[in-house]
Amino acid sequence: MKTKIINTPDLLKAASRKKEVTNFCVANAKHLKDLKPLAKGKKYYIRTYGCQANVRDEETMRAMLEDVGYSFSKEVENVDVIIINTCAVRENAEDKVYGEIGNLKRLRKKNKNLILAICGCMVEQPEILKRLMDTFPEVNLFFGTHEIAQLLDLIYDCYSSNERIVAIESKQGEVVEFIPDCRNNHYKAYVNIIYGCNKFCTYCIVPYTRGKERSRHFNDVIKECQRLIDAGYQEITLLGQNVNAYGKDLDEGKDFADLLEAVAKLGIPRLRFTTSHPWDFSSKMIDVIAKYPNIMKFIHLPVQSGNDEILRKMGRRYTREQYLNLVKEMREKIPGLSLSTDIIVGFPNENEEQFQDTCSLVDIVQYEAAFTFIYSPRKGTPAAKMEDNVSKETKTRRFQELVKHLEKHIEEYSNAMVGNTYDVLVDGVSKTDENMLSGYTETNKLVHFKGDLSLVGTIVKVKIKESHTYSLIGELVNG
Ligand code: 5AD
Ligand code: SF4
Repeated sequence: MKTKIINTPDLLKAASRKKEVTNFCVANAKHLKDLKPLAKGKKYYIRTYGCQANVRDEETMRAMLEDVGYSFSKEVENVDVIIINTCAVRENAEDKVYGEIGNLKRLRKKNKNLILAICGCMVEQPEILKRLMDTFPEVNLFFGTHEIAQLLDLIYDCYSSNERIVAIESKQGEVVEFIPDCRNNHYKAYVNIIYGCNKFCTYCIVPYTRGKERSRHFNDVIKECQRLIDAGYQEITLLGQNVNAYGKDLDEGKDFADLLEAVAKLGIPRLRFTTSHPWDFSSKMIDVIAKYPNIMKFIHLPVQSGNDEILRKMGRRYTREQYLNLVKEMREKIPGLSLSTDIIVGFPNENEEQFQDTCSLVDIVQYEAAFTFIYSPRKGTPAAKMEDNVSKETKTRRFQELVKHLEKHIEEYSNAMVGNTYDVLVDGVSKTDENMLSGYTETNKLVHFKGDLSLVGTIVKVKIKESHTYSLIGELVNG
């Protein structure tokens, strides 16, 4: 099969942050009419790895595919289009993708017209793209996060040219409004408010794969939230790699605190946001969170390390003291606040003392939830070029030690919830016990309890009976 290269990735271009005006546009397929008869009666399968931005991208792709006539299939067998939406943030996320494609390539042998596509952050790194292209000749479409708006045209190209297509442009990116809208969930929704990232933390590949920070227009976000409320949604999560930077690239005179307040005022029962960089988390934002009962008292505030030298090498732009002062202000102004974080263990040359600073910070902050990672070098990032004298065994040992520090408080927090009653937004049948329902409290604690399926998508009161560190068992409170 011949390969048609439309664009290939280039990390230097991806890292450029020129002061260009952001291009705002609406997704528009050139070949919509031609594709419709080809798509009619056909099925697609999509599998997403990684963060909420990828989950939202999946929804966007689903909307486009369904608009043109494809229908969604839960099973991968006997479909006509397969899309694997990848994540590049750590090596283990990538390994899963290699495994999955390895299992899928047999399907192309069975169906020569199958479109097997890989998209997302992985293919935006030149060496990974090359490896994927060499290892899996069965994959006939590669596209990046910036090409999602062109998905239908790319699929049409695959049908009409019978070539393998590579369309991955490294660029700062634009703001594309997608019409129609599609949601995987009918009571909880993600709403993008800002794309990309300008922070360039030295370990992170995201600023290269997702482009520059670019905010959606204030009114476009508000309109989307209003539509969700009108459709009966119970929860909105405002989404961005760094939501705090919202509006800084626009001249609309609005910042994230203004947007958060405006969405809260629309009256959605539960409003969340993620992710927040501690560097530009303003007091104004804290005040807005404290003021509105429908803004959930849950903040994800990645710290990454508790040591100043490591924070500096990570390019995080705050010190341990500044972070702790921010936490203090949040805890003082927002009663009942639940804090979660991300922490990386084993950054290049991290020594024992520096690691212990992270453990002591964890003991001070007493996070209610946390995600912990072992550092994974990402080719093309500054940290990947740093010398690293920390052995794998030491990193693993530290990882386990850190988890113990974190779990101590998480367990205490869970135990303290026993006997109290909480509002829970019911998600569905529990993944661990089909006789139970599960849902989340306002502070994002997972609760399992017995109840009727008709409760899914509603907010109910649940009295907590048992605590299991990361989840709780409760009982529905009638009335
Ligand atoms: N290695 C390990 N963890 C990483 N993260 C980002 N890049 C890396 C990396 N190279 C983690 C950070 C970030 C979370 C989404 O993933 O903790 O906050
Ligand atoms: Fe990556 Fe840092 Fe941007 Fe988060 S803020 S996406 S860790 S570069």
